[in-house]
Amino acid sequence: MIDVLLRRLTSNAELLEEYASLRGRLHLARGPNARKSILATSAQPREGKTTVIVNLALATMRAGRRVAVLDADMRKPRIHEVLDLPNTIGLSDVLAGHAHAGDVIQTVKTAGDDVGEASLSVITAGRGTGFAEALGEPVMRDAIKDLTGICDAVLVDSPPVLAADDALRLAPFVEGVIVVVHTGVATEDDVKLTKTRLEDAGGRVLGVVMNRFDPRVHGPSSHPYSAYYQG
Ligand SMILES: Nc1ncnc2c1ncn2[C@@H]1O[C@H](COP(=O)(O)OP(=O)(O)O)[C@@H](O)[C@H]1O
Ligand SMILES: [Mg+2]
Repeated sequence: MIDVLLRRLTSNAELLEEYASLRGRLHLARGPNARKSILATSAQPREGKTTVIVNLALATMRAGRRVAVLDADMRKPRIHEVLDLPNTIGLSDVLAGHAHAGDVIQTVKTAGDDVGEASLSVITAGRGTGFAEALGEPVMRDAIKDLTGICDAVLVDSPPVLAADDALRLAPFVEGVIVVVHTGVATEDDVKLTKTRLEDAGGRVLGVVMNRFDPRVHGPSSHPYSAYYQG
């Protein structure tokens, strides 16, 4: 599955460039001021958080960095679906105190020669419900810290801010937050409110990633799969 996703990304030069550029602007796992933990959230559901997290992880992995993807969207976990992985163990086991973050990592390796040798560390959401509160507990902060010790970068997926407080609980535990915006879904007021809430919660909002940027509205330099970062 990872090969399919990687091929999809690398066969689209413009898309690949957008993600490489995003990685650079975020200082993700690179350079003297390298950031190691980033949370992706959005105002509303289905704006493309999971899509952006996975593509950003693939682009970072391609650059030779060890990346962990952590599914902290315990309400609509989808990382395991996108990467075609079992979800029998995962973050919920860590939050429940049954395991350490390092114990629930699934390592996904590329299989095809054409995509090169690379691997991704994935922590799926795991089973069970009712973990929303625990996302704000020290056990979660420690899990992210543990993963940054094992990997060069940790990318955390989360639920939308205007639907639940989960991302607000997570925001102080990462070095930066990106807000994924699908202009067809979130209004400008939604995005402003989201940014304010994240900052009030102690999060450092690094910028907005425009997903499915519409060139008719936003100018000719973008295209429908665009990921765009505003500093
Ligand atoms: N840039 C894009 N172009 C086409 N489809 C997209 C794009 N971004 C997301 N999608 C699709 O939209 C749906 C919602 O995206 P997803 O990443 O799951 O959003 P979220 O995690 O914010 O709920 C998925 O079916 C996904 O495949
Ligand atoms: Mg999602």
